[in-house]
Amino acid sequence: MDLSYLSTYYTYFLTGARNAILLSVFSMCISIMLGILLALLRLSKLKIPKMLAVSYVEFIRGTPLMIQLFIIFYGLPMIGISIPSLTFFDTDISRFISGMIAMALNSSAYVCEIFRSGIQSVDDGQVEASRSLGFNYSSTMRFIVLPQALRNILPALGNELVTVIKESSVISVIGVQELMYNTTIVRSTTYKSFSPLIITALIYFVITFTLSKLLGKFEKHMSRSNAR
Ligand code: ARG
Repeated sequence: MDLSYLSTYYTYFLTGARNAILLSVFSMCISIMLGILLALLRLSKLKIPKMLAVSYVEFIRGTPLMIQLFIIFYGLPMIGISIPSLTFFDTDISRFISGMIAMALNSSAYVCEIFRSGIQSVDDGQVEASRSLGFNYSSTMRFIVLPQALRNILPALGNELVTVIKESSVISVIGVQELMYNTTIVRSTTYKSFSPLIITALIYFVITFTLSKLLGKFEKHMSRSNAR
């Protein structure tokens, strides 16, 4: 295998990996906020907001990310919502923003379910005890339910981040210069069709494997401090 092209092209892999991570982390930050909101609506007793949240989650989970991405990227400008052409360090980031919005909207449906199941995993008795001690709904949530729910939620959010990092490769189809897109550039300019793919697969693997290991450590640490 001739890897000599790497001496000139390694930057494509590095910037690609950096952009993939940035895309995923930013998307995940938005999706956590949206997901919490959706989960609260899903768990609320308000009929219509609850129905809307359920429909949203089902629709997002039942359609491919690629279509959602295209709908956002091509569809929004058609109904008059266009993402202005923004430049950041000489790079046009409007595609990046479309990709980030699509990923955040997609992931928020999964994050909603993570929060919902985490909250529901806390025994009802905890809420009843707390309410009978005079806590109102929001303090019950804040001081009693959420701290216990977090034990299930945090590891699942970590797994979601791993999924989002892998799924970010889909965003290459709208021309966001993340790892997959840059790999295609390297393949077409060097005429090396195979080895860049292996390098990219290894880069994704190193990122996700490291993250899972760190999450595993964190999880162990949490269960130890909870047992005390
Ligand atoms: N490939 C899946 C799809 O097309 C994306 C699933 C995203 N999953 C997630 N947990 N964020 O729908």
